[in-house]
Amino acid sequence: MPTINFIHPDGRPDAVDAHAGESAMQAAARHGIAEIAAECGGNAMCATCHVYVDDGWINRLTKMTEDEDALLDGAAAERQPTSRLSCQIAIVSELDGLVLRLPVGGGRRGDDETAGPGPAAALLRVLAWTR
Ligand code: FES
Repeated sequence: MPTINFIHPDGRPDAVDAHAGESAMQAAARHGIAEIAAECGGNAMCATCHVYVDDGWINRLTKMTEDEDALLDGAAAERQPTSRLSCQIAIVSELDGLVLRLPVGGGRRGDDETAGPGPAAALLRVLAWTR
């Protein structure tokens, strides 16, 4: 089972187990990573799952699509060369140890520090509990 290492904006690491075939966003949602709101539920429409891929991993990911590229231009947090949408990162066993840094303030526009996870992330957690 691959492990994804999320790094919170304050530097705190959070290692989560992921399932091959799910997205990094889905793994984050199942583990309550609040910075990933995932408001569109993984349909590449909101950019609230924005992450910064660690330099050592960026070239191991599949190439981003034009739609992902365009959406990242409108992300709430500053876009960087290693920015990706975590809903578009498909987890495979070769990504065991992947390091994803979470943007300051999470992905939501007008985000505040006290806000909880977005509705899609909350729904994914409920679905995971019912399995
Ligand atoms: S969850 Fe909306 S773009 Fe990734």
